[in-house]
Amino acid sequence: MKGSAFGKVILLGEHAVVYGVPAIVVGIDRGATARAAAPDKVGAQGASSELVLRAEGREQSLTVLPDATSDLARAFSALLEACAVTAAVRVEAATELPAAAGLGCSAALAVAIVRALDAWLERPAASLEETIERAMAWEKVFHGNPSGIDATAAARGGCLLYERNHGGARMHELQLSTPLTLAIGHTGIPSTTRAMVEHVARLRERRPDLVEKSFDGIRSLVNNARLALEANDVVGLGRLMDLNQMLLSGLMLSTEEIEAMCRIAREAGALGAKLTGSGGGGCVVALVENDAEPVLAGWDKAGFRSFSTRAFQRAQASERSRAP
Ligand code: MEV
Repeated sequence: MKGSAFGKVILLGEHAVVYGVPAIVVGIDRGATARAAAPDKVGAQGASSELVLRAEGREQSLTVLPDATSDLARAFSALLEACAVTAAVRVEAATELPAAAGLGCSAALAVAIVRALDAWLERPAASLEETIERAMAWEKVFHGNPSGIDATAAARGGCLLYERNHGGARMHELQLSTPLTLAIGHTGIPSTTRAMVEHVARLRERRPDLVEKSFDGIRSLVNNARLALEANDVVGLGRLMDLNQMLLSGLMLSTEEIEAMCRIAREAGALGAKLTGSGGGGCVVALVENDAEPVLAGWDKAGFRSFSTRAFQRAQASERSRAP
């Protein structure tokens, strides 16, 4: 009855990916799990579906009613509909990922729930494409105009070059000859993807020249990063991440805390550091050669919570993780 999914880190290309520029994303082994079962209580009105969410030590129990208005309730209803679930169900979902932090928490929950529902209904597991499509029903409630990169990374894991195109997506799995070591630190400031994507959309209306130039720059950084990854050139990859951070700052997606965290990471020996996900708060990712400890210690000293992770190519990522 259980489903699981990966969290994600965008190495390069966030925001531009919404407009068809490719991005590079890696699945991380912190993610989400879910279990589905028949509800144990049947009230006077009959049983209603329920989602119980455990996130970072908090528990939120949510009964989904047809007229529910919270984003979470609407997303859960949309997901049940996309999964063609007509019977009442109780879903318990848990995640180790901070919410509103750019690590794909909502997409990981959606994919884990899709998988748990299939297992509970004893259906054959949906294909990756179908899983992603169903998870997008939930993502659209939270994010309005998601590129699909989060749901794809949540379902597949590994390292992907992802490109949104004509209502669909193209992707290419990147082979990593050695795993990437990443330090991930949280600014402590939540940031919603929807608000940051809307900020870029508004900026694009006001300053199309600035935004298109930045997106062109990001496109060439991503193309070079792909070559760097294929050549196992982590030093080059780190430099490209730094350049991507400059372009994201130019789009006003960075904050003082993000800049401070990038500086601390570089001073502690990181090969490159940037915001990851939507910016405006959330997390910073730093690429390190081998040992993430000095970066984590630097962030800790400055009061930022962090952890390290390693990114693998898909076959190895699936072997190491609970996600299929
Ligand atoms: C969020 O993780 C990444 C963004 O590019 C939004 C999206 O691609 O849907 C900011």
